[in-house]
Amino acid sequence: MRVFSGIRPSGELHIGNYLGAIKQWIDLQDNNDCLFCIVDWHAITTPYNEKNMQDTIFDFACDYLAVGLDPKKCSFFVQSDVKEHAELAWLLGTIVPVGELQRMTQFKDKSKKHSTYVNAGLLNYPILMAADILLYQTDIVPIGKDQVQHLEFARNVAEKFNKKFGKTFKVPESLVPKDGATIKSLQNPDKKMSKTDDGKGCLFLFEEPEQIRKKIMAAETDSETKIKYDDKNKKGISNLLVIYSLFSGLALKDVEKKFTAAQYGEFKKALADLLIEKLTPFRERKEELKENRAFVEETLRCGAQNARTIAKETMEIVRQKMGLR
Ligand code: AMP
Ligand code: TRP
Repeated sequence: MRVFSGIRPSGELHIGNYLGAIKQWIDLQDNNDCLFCIVDWHAITTPYNEKNMQDTIFDFACDYLAVGLDPKKCSFFVQSDVKEHAELAWLLGTIVPVGELQRMTQFKDKSKKHSTYVNAGLLNYPILMAADILLYQTDIVPIGKDQVQHLEFARNVAEKFNKKFGKTFKVPESLVPKDGATIKSLQNPDKKMSKTDDGKGCLFLFEEPEQIRKKIMAAETDSETKIKYDDKNKKGISNLLVIYSLFSGLALKDVEKKFTAAQYGEFKKALADLLIEKLTPFRERKEELKENRAFVEETLRCGAQNARTIAKETMEIVRQKMGLR
């Protein structure tokens, strides 16, 4: 199956991003034809700093390679290296009613949030995203829940185009991780873990061992003593059990069993040890990659070359169907 997903280069990654999204992509690489794209043209639809842009992209590329994206198994590239994304977005834009764009949830949210910067790019964001996906005749698009509306939009655009100009695009399916994978804040297990949280609730992927230990030991639990999964009455402990289960590969039941006679403190210590064991190689690999800019740039260059080959084929057909040259 052809798999495509886009990553907005923004902010530091935390274990929620990893368990809720990135890990699925890494698993998909083994048996599919995957394209993963750093979407810099999407990133500039909200305020950004042009002076840092290239460093941000490089940093992001290092993050994803460090946690297991493998350039031998997938094409990893930067959107603006494949100009066909912009060409297709322009063409698709001519069959999309403006009203549909104005009704998109993300457009409404972001225009409220950046009310002095409501640009046409922000309105057209879903068209560029549809172009990203349709350009590669994608079968499957792994995304978070917040992007489901945009994927529905891309499917509609593909169907509309196919109806108007004859069968051209594959209509893609979304792949949304199951609910269970939402990681909660360590300080407030009613909220999902988020990088905008105060520092202590959010465990970043490249954190130092002492920090990991400090945050896990300080994680909110309850006044009981029993280590048991109960996401209604024991949200803090349940969240920690989920994190343990996902990083260890043990089923939740087996994690409960393993710690059935343990105190909260002992369990937290074991979780901190596990996270340090799993996250240290990520941090070390990232440091290596940051020292090896040439390798990272070459990876992105090769990825773009693969992507361009497919993109060019699709564009030939699209132009011909639309009576263009
Ligand atoms: P964000 O950085 O919030 O835009 O999220 C990027 C991706 O990570 C999305 O696909 C989300 O589904 C996923 N994600 C973000 N936060 C969490 C979380 N606390 N638990 C699980 N997945 C998350
Ligand atoms: N809009 C997506 C997000 O904010 C990123 C994205 C851009 C994307 N193009 C894509 C995701 C194509 C999947 C497929 O997360």
